[in-house]
Amino acid sequence: MTQDLRLTVAAELERARARTTLLTDAVDDGDLVRQHSPLMSPLVWDLAHVGNQEELWLVRDVGGREPVRRDIDELYDAFKHPRPNRPALPLLDPAEARAYVGQVRDKALDVLDRVRLTDRKLVAGGFAFGMIVQHEQQHAETMLATHQLRAGAPVLQAPAPPPARVSASGEVLIPGGPFTMGTDTEPWALDNERPAHPVDVPAFFIDVAPVTNAEYAAFIADGGYDDPRWWSRRGWAHRQEAGLSAPMHWRRDGDGWAYTRFGRTERVVADEPVVHVCFFEAEAYASWAGRRLPTEAEWEKAARHDPATGRSRRYPWGDDAPGPEHANLGQRHLAPARVGAYPEGASPLGVHQLIGDVWEWTDSGFHGYPGFEVFPYAEYSQVFFGGDYKVLRGGSFGTDAAACRGTFRNWDHPIRRQIFSGFRCARDAGPLAATDGLEAV
Ligand SMILES: [Fe+2]
Repeated sequence: MTQDLRLTVAAELERARARTTLLTDAVDDGDLVRQHSPLMSPLVWDLAHVGNQEELWLVRDVGGREPVRRDIDELYDAFKHPRPNRPALPLLDPAEARAYVGQVRDKALDVLDRVRLTDRKLVAGGFAFGMIVQHEQQHAETMLATHQLRAGAPVLQAPAPPPARVSASGEVLIPGGPFTMGTDTEPWALDNERPAHPVDVPAFFIDVAPVTNAEYAAFIADGGYDDPRWWSRRGWAHRQEAGLSAPMHWRRDGDGWAYTRFGRTERVVADEPVVHVCFFEAEAYASWAGRRLPTEAEWEKAARHDPATGRSRRYPWGDDAPGPEHANLGQRHLAPARVGAYPEGASPLGVHQLIGDVWEWTDSGFHGYPGFEVFPYAEYSQVFFGGDYKVLRGGSFGTDAAACRGTFRNWDHPIRRQIFSGFRCARDAGPLAATDGLEAV
């Protein structure tokens, strides 16, 4: 197992670096050091920060080696410098940053060759390496979001996502009762996904697929952005202040809509999940539709609970790692796929596209599970618990499989929409649905 694990870790590190390289080689040095939005870091900051985290954890902590560049730790500490301030820092230039991450990687691979993977909790099951793989892949998604905000000619391309293969509309009843939320067994799960614990979730209905562009456009056409009835108090205040009138990157195109993606403008595709909406927009849509957003526990139950066995799966389709037939992940495509494109990725009860395509806003804040233990450091999750965040689930087309699973939790401020965020709706089922099914209603 140890040799296999080393090979897996090395391959995953390599895969993450290939993506970082693609996203940073796609633009010239001027673009790498520029800040494309105050919401984002310059790409060259992400690049060296990825290397710096790898140095801190794998080279210094796991490997016990001398620092490569102790002098730059402070510059790449995300807590010391918020994103708007990063361009003014004396950052490594693109050539220095590339040389630095290469040097760190050589040392990290040497550490991987020599370390005994069972010695400490930090390295058991390859955890620290998995954490660094996930960190780099998470920054690859952040860098992809920066590309979406970048002005100028397109520099990224990818094949179109697969077409719809089945119709995926309406809602599914998820019966009431307990299920196991979180995990004790995923070797690379982060502290906030642990421990596994039972949660009793009353019966509810959840959408078969994420809300589509056509459905969202109907909300706009019905005056949804101009009617405070559908918005929470905070949501309406934000809608007013930010002047929201459609998802980010949308603009009017004749009697319809167009959006710009990675530098290309095209007509909005009707049956694709809507993306680049904030929590408040999702909440307003749901309320207009006579529905609500699912809680985080409802989302995870819909995604993982197998009613036939009573156990929670790793993914909606089972325990197998995500393949191209299951979900739109890993920047294989640079857009969400139409609803119904992944019948093989559906859950046992027939909920589609929970993994991949778009992150899905839930109605839950970010908190530790009962029995939560900080590991390996408080700044990973704990410092964010109870903050002004909503949890997002399921990953997007920009998320790598290494940083996406049925238990994976993302969180962001409810006003954020530069991320690849969409949603689906839910509603209460009531007590009858929990026992005899709908015939009784
Ligand atoms: Fe980071």
